[in-house]
Parts: sequence; structure tokens; C-alpha cells
Amino acid sequence: VSGTPRAPILVTGATGQVGAELLRTLAPLGTVLACDRRRLDLGDPDAIRRVLRELAPGLVVNAAAYTAVDRAEEEPHLAHAINALAPGVIAEELARRGGALVHLSTDYVFDGESSRPYREDDRCAPINVYGRSKRAGEEAALSAGGAVLVVRTSWVYGLRGRNFLLAIQRLARSRERLQVVADQVGSPTWSRALAEAIAQLLARLGTDPGRLREHTGLLHLCCAGQASWFDLARAILAATAGTGQVTVEPIDTAGYPTRAARPRYSVLDCRRAAERLGIRMPPWEQALEQALEDQRIARESLTEPAAARA
Ligand SMILES: NC(=O)c1ccc[n+]([C@@H]2O[C@H](COP(=O)([O-])OP(=O)(O)OC[C@H]3O[C@@H](n4cnc5c(N)ncnc54)[C@H](OP(=O)(O)O)[C@@H]3O)[C@@H](O)[C@H]2O)c1
Repeated sequence: VSGTPRAPILVTGATGQVGAELLRTLAPLGTVLACDRRRLDLGDPDAIRRVLRELAPGLVVNAAAYTAVDRAEEEPHLAHAINALAPGVIAEELARRGGALVHLSTDYVFDGESSRPYREDDRCAPINVYGRSKRAGEEAALSAGGAVLVVRTSWVYGLRGRNFLLAIQRLARSRERLQVVADQVGSPTWSRALAEAIAQLLARLGTDPGRLREHTGLLHLCCAGQASWFDLARAILAATAGTGQVTVEPIDTAGYPTRAARPRYSVLDCRRAAERLGIRMPPWEQALEQALEDQRIARESLTEPAAARA
């Protein structure tokens, strides 16, 4: 029986930590089109409209963003163009065409002064350029009038790209002692676990814009539990082969000055995802263990002699 083929799912930021994982986890849901920066530069609104018209996706998952939190302080216009304006253009174009958007956002929309995990409707008060640009992007996407789900996540790491996991492993190879900030607390989230949760969510809701429209709004999705960067560094080194001897010392934020201020506490309350959609992400320790296991397997398969593999 030949039916109308379902419109494809377009993933932006396909070379990023989350985007690359989404290409795999969304594959069972339909045809997934990967857009990297060369195919679609989010700094160019005309290109966004043109590509969306050409590819006619039913759903866009926008995993592209300007994510260099410190550099954003010096490039606020660029951060704003990619994080604030582009999501609005994507959402408007999709609203006009009847498509849906899942847009990724961040815990850095909050100021970090809360004493309990942040809920979706808590007041946003970003304290750096990156956070302000991401908050503006949420508002632009949600006000376009289409089916838009803004998924906020936090402290993302993966086995590729630039992130805390790989940075700590790299430093541990050349130093005996590391000093890591212990007075910032969040929920470390493995990019693959997040991509799996988003796929599960879309499998449950369906990728049909009509269904997604009923869920238009904000959703927090990150690994369960909380940790400081110091806790996370210790957990990484304890489970990485050859780095068990490296000493990790806690320091406070003042001892590690950065261009951008960071919230001291940005744990997200993920109950809405659990209660409304039955999506529960694993505890961060469990996800980290799995990520390191995957890293070990990948490295072993690279170093294994060809004969042993044959
Ligand atoms: N990383 C975190 O800790 C964190 C925490 C909370 C929320 N988030 C959010 O989660 C989402 C995914 O983040 P991630 O960690 O996967 O980021 P990432 O690894 O830095 O990937 C970002 C992606 O965006 C692409 N990109 C940047 N500028 C672009 C442009 N002008 N045009 C098109 N593509 C562009 C990058 O392409 P290139 O490879 O060409 O640069 C890359 O593929 C983002 O919305 C981010 O704000 C991240």
C-alpha cells in the first residue's frame, strides 16, 4: 500500500554533542536529515527560510547553538543571532508551514539563587550573555504561534567535541593535581542519554505537529541527581583507566575566574517530563558510568590489531 510518505525530521547542529546522538536515536521515527553549519548557517535568516522550504521537514530538532559560554561575552551579537534570532525564524517558518519544533535550551536561563531545583515556570534571570541569548531564543520560538517544545537541559558532556569530561581526562594525563570548582552545582547530563530521552518523548507523542501542539511549552530534561564540578571530576577520574592517582582538590568559583559568570546552582526539576510524559532520565552517576564504558569499548576497538578483529 503506498501512502503519503511522512515529512522528514531535520536535525540542526548535527556535528554537535547532542545533534550527533540525535541522528541515531531519531532514526527509528522516520527519515532524519542532518544539517551541519555548512548546509545551514543559523546566522543567516534567509538561508534558514530557504533550507526549510527546500527540505520541507515536518519536525525540526534544533540542537545547534552558540555554546561557547565565555567567548559569548565578547561576541554578544553573534551569540544573539544564533541563539535568539535563529530559533524565532525557524519557529515562524514552521508555524507557517504547519511543522513542529523541538528546541534545546539551557539551565543557564536561571540566576542560580534558588535553594530547590528549578521548575519550568520559575522566573528566568540569566546572568551571562549566553544565558540571555538562550532565554531570548526560548521566547522567540514560543511566541511564533506554532507547535514548539522547548527542552531545557544542563551540563552536557559526551564522547566528542569540547566538554568537561574530555577536558578533565586530558588534563589528568599531564598533571598530578587538579583544582576543580566545588561551589557550582548542577545535573551532569550525557548527550546520548538526552538524545534517547528526546527520541522516547517523540515516540510517545508522535512526530505529528498536531499532537506536539498540545504540548507546546517548556520541558526540563536532564540526568537525575546533582553534583558540583568537583564531584563530577572525581567521578570521571575514578572510573577512567590510568587516572586513579591524580589528586582532585575542591576550590571555589573565586579561585577560577572566568569571563562569564555562572549560576551557583542550576539543578532542573524534571517532574513535568515524568508526570506528563513518563520520561525519566537515569541518575547522572549511572549515565556517566555507561558513557565511560562506551568510551573504553570504542578505544579498545581502535587499538585492537586488525588480525584480532578479522
Ligand atoms: N553543552 C552544554 O553543557 C549544554 C548545557 C545546557 C544546554 N545546552 C544546549 O543543548 C544544545 C546542544 O548543545 P551541545 O552541547 O550539543 O553543543 P555543541 O556540541 O557545542 O554543538 C553545537 C552545534 O551547533 C552548531 N553551530 C554553531 N554555530 C552554528 C551556526 N552558526 N550555524 C549552524 N550550526 C551552528 C555547531 O556546529 P560546528 O560543529 O560547525 O561548530 C555544533 O554542531 C544547545 O541548544 C545548547 O545551548 C548545552
